[in-house]
Amino acid sequence: MASPSPRALVIVLVLSLLAFSAPAANSLACTTQKLTDSGIYSTCLDLPALGSTLHYSYNAANSSAAVAFITSLPESRGWVSWALNPTGTGMVGCQALIAFKDASTGAMAVKTYNVSSYGSVEESKISFEVWDMAAESATDGTMRIYAKIKVPGDASKLNQVWQVGPSVTDGVPDKHDFAVANLVAKGTLNLVSGQTSSTSGDSGLQKKNIHGILNVVSWGILFPFGIIIARYLRVFPSADPTWFYLHVFCQFSAYVIGSAGWGSGLSLGGKSEGIIYSSHRNLGIAIFCMSTIQMFALLVRPKKDHKYRFYWNIYHHGFGYSIIIIGIVNVFKGYDILRPAEKWKSRYITTIAALVGFALLLEVVTWMVVLKRGSYKSTRPSYDGSCDGQSRQDSLAL
Ligand SMILES: *[C@@H]1O[C@H](CO)[C@@H](O)[C@H](O)[C@H]1NC(C)=O
Ligand SMILES: *[C@@H]1O[C@H](CO)[C@@H](O)[C@H](O)[C@H]1NC(C)=O
Repeated sequence: MASPSPRALVIVLVLSLLAFSAPAANSLACTTQKLTDSGIYSTCLDLPALGSTLHYSYNAANSSAAVAFITSLPESRGWVSWALNPTGTGMVGCQALIAFKDASTGAMAVKTYNVSSYGSVEESKISFEVWDMAAESATDGTMRIYAKIKVPGDASKLNQVWQVGPSVTDGVPDKHDFAVANLVAKGTLNLVSGQTSSTSGDSGLQKKNIHGILNVVSWGILFPFGIIIARYLRVFPSADPTWFYLHVFCQFSAYVIGSAGWGSGLSLGGKSEGIIYSSHRNLGIAIFCMSTIQMFALLVRPKKDHKYRFYWNIYHHGFGYSIIIIGIVNVFKGYDILRPAEKWKSRYITTIAALVGFALLLEVVTWMVVLKRGSYKSTRPSYDGSCDGQSRQDSLAL
């Protein structure tokens, strides 16, 4: 078998990464949703949290509106809710429609709630007229609430609140989670112009998104990618010493971007009152410390034939692989806290799966190259001081 050129491998890797992580065209997710009765809704909006959307049409003549609220639910035995709050911006005062599966009939039911405190909620009449209420658990995994309402007050300035909860006990919706996405799931709704905005923490949410992007790109993608370069490219003599500089470049960029992400995380943590995501925070600190030590690894790297090089390799590789694992775990913890639209998490999963797939492929290819050259002297993985290629031809171990 002809050995594939390392340059081609890098190009394939980079292209596929771009393909997987490039954001889709900037269209509203809600426009692709299929509704049973789609004809009656003239407008749709992507709500800024919990991956939810609102379809509606407003009839100014008698100030009534038809609304369809769509969201995905973490647990099928949970509840979903859409509410207007005529008296405030938060949960208290909400006139809510809450839908969940009725335990006795197994069918989806939607009920109204006058939420007067942060305690448990009780079914009750609400302050505006509602009719044609229906709920549906759609085949695409979303839950939907349909209703027609007599709009209370100024239709261009409504306070809406939406929410999802994990469970229902004896017909009463249990508390929802207190992740960032749950807490920011509210905003003003303008039924006349068709706009929505977040009332609280809009800029806070933006900071959290930036924090997320920096850390996903650095620890979650670049860092593992740099390790793949180091592990596989150096099998090819022609890639020496290019792989080394690519590896250093990748890890150093990951470190710089990751440090910015880490700093933004500390600042968010400092501003977050009452809610502390301690394991996310502690893992973040561990990653930052370990990667800082990794950066110094470059400075204290013993020469290839130095007797301590063996130990240096063990430490450098051990730290490197630990950072990948902790980094990816922490990225997923971050997704659970921020709960961006589901597609971001699935794109990340696809990217990681692609990286793993390439790593496995390269594992096979490099093994074939090594075996073909007939160098069985050392078996992989070994710590034979292979960090600067010169002796690659003799010792191909990684
Ligand atoms: C408002 O008008 C629409 C369409 O003409 C009608 O379906 C709806 O029932 C009316 N709403 C109220 C509150 O009268
Ligand atoms: C909702 O609850 C509040 C506080 O208990 C009460 O003042 C209000 O009248 C209730 N609204 C309706 C429509 O029952």
